[in-house]
Amino acid sequence: MARDGALYTCQSCGAVHPKWAGQCAACGAWNTLVEESLAAPPGALSPSRSGKKRGLVFEGLESLSPPPPRIATGVDEFDRVCGGGVVPGSAILLAGDPGVGKSTLLLQVCAEAARRGAACAYISGEEAVEQIRARAHRMGLADAGVSLAAETALRDIIAGLKQGAFNMVVIDSIQTLWSDAHDAGPGSVTQVRACAGELVRLAKQRGIAIILVGHVTKDGQIAGPRVVEHMVDAVLAFEGERGYPFRILRGSKNRFGATDEIGVFEMTDAGLAEVKNPSSLFLNESGARAAGAAVFAGIEGSRPVLVEFQALVAPSVYGTPRRTVVGWDAGRLAMVMAVLDSRCGLGFAARDVYLNVAGGLRINEPAADLAAAAALVSSALDVALPQACVVFGEISLSGDIRPVSRMESRLKEAVKLGFSSALAPGAMDGGSGMRVSGVSRLADAVGRIGDGTWD
Ligand code: TYD
Ligand code: MG
Repeated sequence: MARDGALYTCQSCGAVHPKWAGQCAACGAWNTLVEESLAAPPGALSPSRSGKKRGLVFEGLESLSPPPPRIATGVDEFDRVCGGGVVPGSAILLAGDPGVGKSTLLLQVCAEAARRGAACAYISGEEAVEQIRARAHRMGLADAGVSLAAETALRDIIAGLKQGAFNMVVIDSIQTLWSDAHDAGPGSVTQVRACAGELVRLAKQRGIAIILVGHVTKDGQIAGPRVVEHMVDAVLAFEGERGYPFRILRGSKNRFGATDEIGVFEMTDAGLAEVKNPSSLFLNESGARAAGAAVFAGIEGSRPVLVEFQALVAPSVYGTPRRTVVGWDAGRLAMVMAVLDSRCGLGFAARDVYLNVAGGLRINEPAADLAAAAALVSSALDVALPQACVVFGEISLSGDIRPVSRMESRLKEAVKLGFSSALAPGAMDGGSGMRVSGVSRLADAVGRIGDGTWD
């Protein structure tokens, strides 16, 4: 039996168990149960509410006053991912690996918003005020009127925020805060949940936009911002590949906008620079494209983005051939290879297959099927695609090439970047400056790549 009041919370998924166990029964993670007392259960109504009239009061959908305008922070890539600026009274979680640049991004967002007249506060539980000041100075933001504080006690933060009239507040990070209503350590699920709950409530009450920073480790071990995801209005993930200077901001939940927008930044020695034209960043411009490379005309959110798919098909020295994929879905690669095998007679047994999306971008669109297939075929047959050719199209299990969304915008972006032909689904109109080689069967595409017939 558990001791009085003691419960065991999984630090990975937040499930509560009455007994300690080596493995969490809810998420299957090992060694994640930690004893935490749930003296004040999360989400319990605060006593101050008990004096109010009980019962529901219904209201209409139409509002009497217009909603307050969004805060345009001036960091356009950030604003776009938020759905066109930050909504007053909303709570945003910015999650990412340690060191990816979350603090840098939010300091820039605060400073730019402050320059545009918003009252902004940056509260850090990780760095001293001097450190933040030095960083701001190096990034050329020292003159922006941001209110800085270094604090981890939730009670003091809430009191401070109630005194000031802030429009936007950054809390860096939620794992460092502690509330004296709970005796669990900072960073534990109980503390993270309690502190986030309080701050979200404050955001709604006062109309302050609150941005919470959350660290995530690869295996989600250290107290999960996962539990915070349900409480906030928007969850933004800040991602970057080790060894690449650019960072991608991606929305994974947004109550006030679309979630498929991305923001692209480049980490420089003076902070994060916005990348307005991502295609130029992801395309390898040095030299000619060799066999195995295909340029995919993709769409990320509302923007067309061109990226290079690179494939290498090589004889395997092992009994089980290797399939390695970076930046794309391994299951999708297996499917494309199976279709190439059974519908086009291009087998990959006894051959290692490596597929890489250049530049470290992660592609999720089904429209990339044909680009991946073209790269594989080009490498397997050792024939390069035409240099100025882009590829897109979805492949079905029957070996058909299906049309995809926004084909005109894909072609337009390709023309803008100097491409002049496209391998694309079915009968499409090329428009100005584009020669479209329309294919409706994957076998046709394989044939065209093989003999280099493109018209
Ligand atoms: P930081 O914002 O502290 O990361 P996080 O808050 O996500 O943990 O950024 C850390 C990295 O960014 C660090 O390795 C150094 C790099 N960096 C630059 O390259 N240029 C800069 O101008 C700044 C401020 C940081
Ligand atoms: Mg930080």
